[in-house]
Amino acid sequence: MNDDIAKVLYHESTILSRLDELAHLITEDYSDKEFTVISILNGSFIFMADLLRRIQLPLQVDCWSVSSYHGAKSSGSINFRQHEVADVSGRHVLLLDDILDSGLTLSTIKSKLMNEKNAKSVKSWVLLCKNITRKAEVEADYVGFKIDNEFVVGYGLDYNQQYRNLSYIGVLKEELYKK
Ligand code: XMP
Repeated sequence: MNDDIAKVLYHESTILSRLDELAHLITEDYSDKEFTVISILNGSFIFMADLLRRIQLPLQVDCWSVSSYHGAKSSGSINFRQHEVADVSGRHVLLLDDILDSGLTLSTIKSKLMNEKNAKSVKSWVLLCKNITRKAEVEADYVGFKIDNEFVVGYGLDYNQQYRNLSYIGVLKEELYKK
């Protein structure tokens, strides 16, 4: 697996230090709020556990399984593999996603939670944010790291469901997905 990585962007220790900082911010921002964390699967499953254990507040958790990528390309639409999610009516929601790219995933889920599920507020937390012009008008409220427009894997992020178990985040060698 390591041979497929062109360069390492963030080692586990750097990621965990950043999670400490962001968990501290969330603990301050949500100290007087009843809130539900909704984690977008599959990409969030590794940092979700690391982040949530650092938040010193009572909270509810649920996951939402969606997909939009085929290989290293966005399909341009969001597929909800699971239709039911926790009842968040009247509750504050903090969405967790692995990466903000075109913005399609976050904007679709945010408007669903506000308009169909009647959440009181929806903020979003992303581990990575690509520095590109988005297709949908959305930005994250909390960002782990800003990155260039490169295809990254590891620490939950995949290429065709592989590399999620790398302990670090790295750029995948182009020849592996550009054929
Ligand atoms: P959008 O374009 O909707 O993308 O903002 C969000 C989802 O697309 C996947 N994605 C990536 N996955 N490396 C990955 O492993 C990447 O560089 C990448 N860019 C987008 C990811 O599932 C994310 O939730």
